[in-house]
Amino acid sequence: MMQRVELEIDRLIKEIDYDEVTRLFKMLSGGKRLRAKLILKIAPEHEKAPLLAAIVELIHGASLLHDDVIDEALTRRGVSSVNATEGSKTAVMLGDVLYSKAFTELVSFEPEVARVVARSVTELSKGEMMDVKMADSFNFDEKKYLDMLYLKTATLIEAASIASALLVGKDSAKYGVYGRNLGLSFQIIDDILDITADAATMGKPTMHDFVEGKCTLPYIYLYEALNEEDRKRLQSSHAKSIDAAEVEWIKSKMGQHKTIEKSFKLARKLSSEAMNAVKDDEALVEILQTMIKRNY
Ligand code: FPP
Ligand code: MG
Repeated sequence: MMQRVELEIDRLIKEIDYDEVTRLFKMLSGGKRLRAKLILKIAPEHEKAPLLAAIVELIHGASLLHDDVIDEALTRRGVSSVNATEGSKTAVMLGDVLYSKAFTELVSFEPEVARVVARSVTELSKGEMMDVKMADSFNFDEKKYLDMLYLKTATLIEAASIASALLVGKDSAKYGVYGRNLGLSFQIIDDILDITADAATMGKPTMHDFVEGKCTLPYIYLYEALNEEDRKRLQSSHAKSIDAAEVEWIKSKMGQHKTIEKSFKLARKLSSEAMNAVKDDEALVEILQTMIKRNY
């Protein structure tokens, strides 16, 4: 089944009819294709499910290309990012091509399906803007952080679930709840992995988020738990490259206050809410379980 998505993606890229795009697109391959898998599991019998999945993966790919320029990331999916090897201008333009091709294809769907996907890209873009703005200062507001996460990561997954449910006449509200909570849970686990996994597994250095200015949940919970003096120390390390001793200090404080466990607990709670929304759909429960079991 997933091979049909890859064939659709290849077909769309070929239709763009520019060798340079084909060459550059190869640099992006190797993602988890989580969004595509969801669509195929929700609407396996629908003939346009592979096309919808390909569209969503192109949008996702475009957003990552732009995100890596914005974040000045040198790696993506364990290999050099397009901006690192080809320059930011090329990465932005490739993102534009993929994004507009995806929207051209989206027009062939029912307006309701097309609208839900299109609207989520506006939300995604708002989420990215918030993420960047929030990194300017130390954020310790959990709600503000989760609202941003929802927009940045969960909306496209939620839209993929709703759109595919609409295709086959399933209860789209239930599938929306599933996608939303899975997306949030996924991102929280990703944030945890940024702290706990080694650089090789993640394809980026440890605590990269905090160095970039991003106060993810384990840092927010840590701030809440620290005394005034330690809060100042944590804040003074924010958004700059920190030495090994400071990394160790933050990690030991996180251990002491169990902030990784606390974050993981929220991820698990969101996953079970996702699971409850689609209890009788075994394939979807399976996607959740594999996601939760990622190394951390
Ligand atoms: C990764 O976040 C970024 C996103 C999931 C969304 C990025 C969205 C945009 C750039 C706007 C939409 C643009 C287009 C062209 C559709 P991260 O930096 O936290 O994660 P990372 O560690 O994977 O980089
Ligand atoms: Mg990024």
